Amino acid sequence: MEKLKIGVLVSGSGSNLQALIDGAAAGELDIDIVQVISSRPDAYGIERAQKADIPVVAFNRDAYADRLAADERIVDIMRQAGAEYLVMAGYMRMVTPVILRAYENRVVNLHPALLPSFVGAHAIQDAWDAGVKVTGITVHFANEEYDRGPIIAQRAIPVLEDDTVDTLEARIHEAEHELLPQVVQLLAEQRVSVTAEGKVRIS
Ligand code: GRF
Repeated sequence: MEKLKIGVLVSGSGSNLQALIDGAAAGELDIDIVQVISSRPDAYGIERAQKADIPVVAFNRDAYADRLAADERIVDIMRQAGAEYLVMAGYMRMVTPVILRAYENRVVNLHPALLPSFVGAHAIQDAWDAGVKVTGITVHFANEEYDRGPIIAQRAIPVLEDDTVDTLEARIHEAEHELLPQVVQLLAEQRVSVTAEGKVRIS
């Protein structure tokens, strides 16, 4: 099968990037990670990309002073690398319409809660503070409404009696490392489409 070329956006540890790198190396994912872009120069995800011989560009805070210009650079870099889809794997910057129009229904985001609950950058802590008994993870297409784009896949994760926010977080990350690669493989198999009503269909 022809491999799907993906570009990955990171801001931090990059453990989800690593899950994609490992899945591709193991031959489980029909993807080629053609480019990584980090929103921060100190993100550990940069090292992960380098170790895997993936071209990586690191932005800094100044690069985002003009958000539209930053996203234009991102689109240029990703297109030059041949990226067909973008995956936001712990990317902590909002993407502007510049990216969303260039990659319409082709920007995938990972969110550590069951959307539409607990949007925003502190979803795990917010779910913990709310005392919910079930939380989870969501993989969705990004659109112009923050954390509200078409949902591709979700997994529920129970909050256990003896959990701390840290043990819950660890289970959430474990689940992310399974679900994100599964979704990316569905994309590679061209099984994901968005209906006119803005819902995702998986064939
Ligand atoms: C993940 O929990 C993701 O859901 C959130 O940021 C975290 C990224 O982790 N948006 P990593 O950088 O992939 O390790």
